[in-house]
Amino acid sequence: MKKIIINNNLILPNRYILAPMAGLSDYSLRRMCYLEGVGLTYTEMVSCESVIHNSSATFFDLKTTHLEKKKNLLALQIFGGKKESILKSIPVIEKEARYDILDFNAGCPVNKVVKQNAGSKWLTKVDELTNLMKDIVNISSHPVSIKLRTGFNEEIDLVALAKRLEEVGVSLIAIHGRTRKEFFCGKVNYDIIKKVKENVTIPVIANGGISLYNASEVLSFTKADGIMIGQKALGHPEIFSNLIRLEEGKEIINLSPKEKINQLKKHLKLLFSYLDENRGVSLARGISTHYIKDFKYSAKLRSYFVRCKSKKEYFDLIKNYKNYLVETT
Ligand SMILES: Cc1cc2nc3c(=O)[nH]c(=O)nc-3n(C[C@H](O)[C@H](O)[C@H](O)COP(=O)(O)O)c2cc1C
Repeated sequence: MKKIIINNNLILPNRYILAPMAGLSDYSLRRMCYLEGVGLTYTEMVSCESVIHNSSATFFDLKTTHLEKKKNLLALQIFGGKKESILKSIPVIEKEARYDILDFNAGCPVNKVVKQNAGSKWLTKVDELTNLMKDIVNISSHPVSIKLRTGFNEEIDLVALAKRLEEVGVSLIAIHGRTRKEFFCGKVNYDIIKKVKENVTIPVIANGGISLYNASEVLSFTKADGIMIGQKALGHPEIFSNLIRLEEGKEIINLSPKEKINQLKKHLKLLFSYLDENRGVSLARGISTHYIKDFKYSAKLRSYFVRCKSKKEYFDLIKNYKNYLVETT
């Protein structure tokens, strides 16, 4: 099994990584993926402003990192638009959370984040970004990584930026091969990822549009050290064990509807193990629909999942799921 080595001392057991996803890559999804052998997961992005303003929800998220088993490597992702707040938040985060890598988000495309000069907006000010990363590296007791897109409105010279980031001590670069303008649609530019990989010595991770079926092609084309998977892991944490199986020359395993339902049950148990019922119920909706999306005749089951209002209703529905798998017109 190929591994990823960071700073000569942190070893990821394999090249397969779960992407950070706000509202989704919480403790429960991360644990589901660890059970399937994922090499590294990321937290949902944490706002540096919220940290320095003592947001209780943010502190709760930071604390949940302690639920992770030590052997399960975790990158904690931060975002922010003001250097001062970002640097001020890091010692607090170090005190509150348990993680192995500190990741900086320089890729988020959403307006709310960009308006704060954060996320992908950093790609319009690469000098400032480089200086910021130098300071983050100096302050952080953990290796520092960054997640980039290929540009804001247009593609930027990502090779030049990556070289500078390596020079200031960044330990790993993950690249979503799309610009901010492209959001989550459009062709992923794996060529840029390949060029970055040719020009730096730190690990480079390819991201964007990767599934079980194009993973080995992306790895061999880009020569990236690893691949990061987001949407294709939703409802399919077993994508990671299947990637490992493929690398070992074994056949992939497709789960039956019964096995998927059991997987969903496990995921929801984890969710309700650390969240109160209200919060758990609102997140369970999205989680459930992902697990059943490939079922034949799932429309009715789906419509019931999105209407569940309590933990009990979810688990009752799971128990009786077969009754709802009916052909609809
Ligand atoms: C719902 C959702 C939330 C996301 N939240 C984050 C985030 O908090 N931080 C981040 O760097 N990227 C975030 N992303 C982007 C993903 O990490 C990833 O770059 C993108 O989905 C492309 O990979 P994929 O095609 O494998 O999904 C998010 C994506 C989705 C779909």
